[in-house]
Amino acid sequence: MIPVILSGGSGTRLWPLSREAYPKQFLPLAGKNTMLQATWQRVAALASAAPILVANEDHRFMVAEQLREVDCKPAAILLEPVGRNTAPAIAAAALQATADGEDPLLLVLPSDHVIADAAAFRSAVSQAATAAEAGRLVTFGIVPTGPETGYGYIKATAGEVVRDVERFVEKPDAATAEGYVASGEYFWNSGMFLFRASRYLAELERHAPAMLTACRAAFAAARRDEDFVRLDKAAFAACPADSIDYAVMEKTADAAVLPIAVGWNDVGSWSALWEVAEQDGNGNAHHGDVVALDCRDTLAWGDRRLVAMIGLQDVVVVDTDDSVLVAHKDHVQDVKTVVARLKAAG
Ligand code: GDD
Ligand code: MG
Repeated sequence: MIPVILSGGSGTRLWPLSREAYPKQFLPLAGKNTMLQATWQRVAALASAAPILVANEDHRFMVAEQLREVDCKPAAILLEPVGRNTAPAIAAAALQATADGEDPLLLVLPSDHVIADAAAFRSAVSQAATAAEAGRLVTFGIVPTGPETGYGYIKATAGEVVRDVERFVEKPDAATAEGYVASGEYFWNSGMFLFRASRYLAELERHAPAMLTACRAAFAAARRDEDFVRLDKAAFAACPADSIDYAVMEKTADAAVLPIAVGWNDVGSWSALWEVAEQDGNGNAHHGDVVALDCRDTLAWGDRRLVAMIGLQDVVVVDTDDSVLVAHKDHVQDVKTVVARLKAAG
């Protein structure tokens, strides 16, 4: 089994800490290691083979350095000259994994999640392996806690440990998501997958042939050195962009889901980070040099200078070199509006 670690997102929902040049997977948001490092450490005991990393070319030194710090020797670091979303990134990894005639299981992992119970996750992966070996495309399902619209929703048949997927719907609208959650019949897609490399490539061939052709061309013409595999720029740029969820999981007849309860959180906002961060007796989660008087349920983040807060509740304060964010916890989704505005203003 080869872990395929995806590290291409830009994570602007955690602005001003997380940015295009420094997305959240490279930050130590929960614990002392970065989320990328924690992703590897979570599966290191499980993997019989070194991982394949797929990352944006601009992040190559950060990826290599962070892996070195945790003694991870990757089988390959594949570099994308431009982002084409997750379906092509996983295709490139599958081509790399099968290049020498092998056909291993690929454990596809986003690098921007927190999993509280790593041991439970590892045993779930072992449970899913039989189904994946038999040709299924297995995902790991999370019991939803609300009608989030940023997730994939999976309707599974009842019964078995690894269940058949009746329907996979990526990012439904709010009303649909509400109906799904109310029905009690749906899981969230955690964004982690287990399947044979050849099965994924076969599904792409069927549902997104132009994408597979472009990925094959980009992989065949890749430039390789000791450290990196650089996918060919012209060929990869010509590849249609799509996520594995839309391109494959919504369409395949062979999807399966294993429900898991492992303390999964995708840390998609400052309030989500507050939930997973270590809190004091008053619900305050503070990182860096912070003094808080009469505060409840706050999140403060800053290691450049002292941050002092008085009499606040449900407030987020993030201090970085060039920007300060002060927001109510219920409104932190709107940082993406701030980011969009800053981008538009150049
Ligand atoms: N290498 C590479 N290249 N990685 C990428 C790219 C890319 O172009 N785009 C995204 N990634 C990485 C991200 O860094 C992240 O680790 C992972 O792939 C998933 O991408 P997201 O962009 O974060 O996806 P999402 O959150 O909108 O949706 C996915 O995750 C949800 C759970 O968090 C889907 O799988 C949903 O169905 C799922 O519910
Ligand atoms: Mg995500």
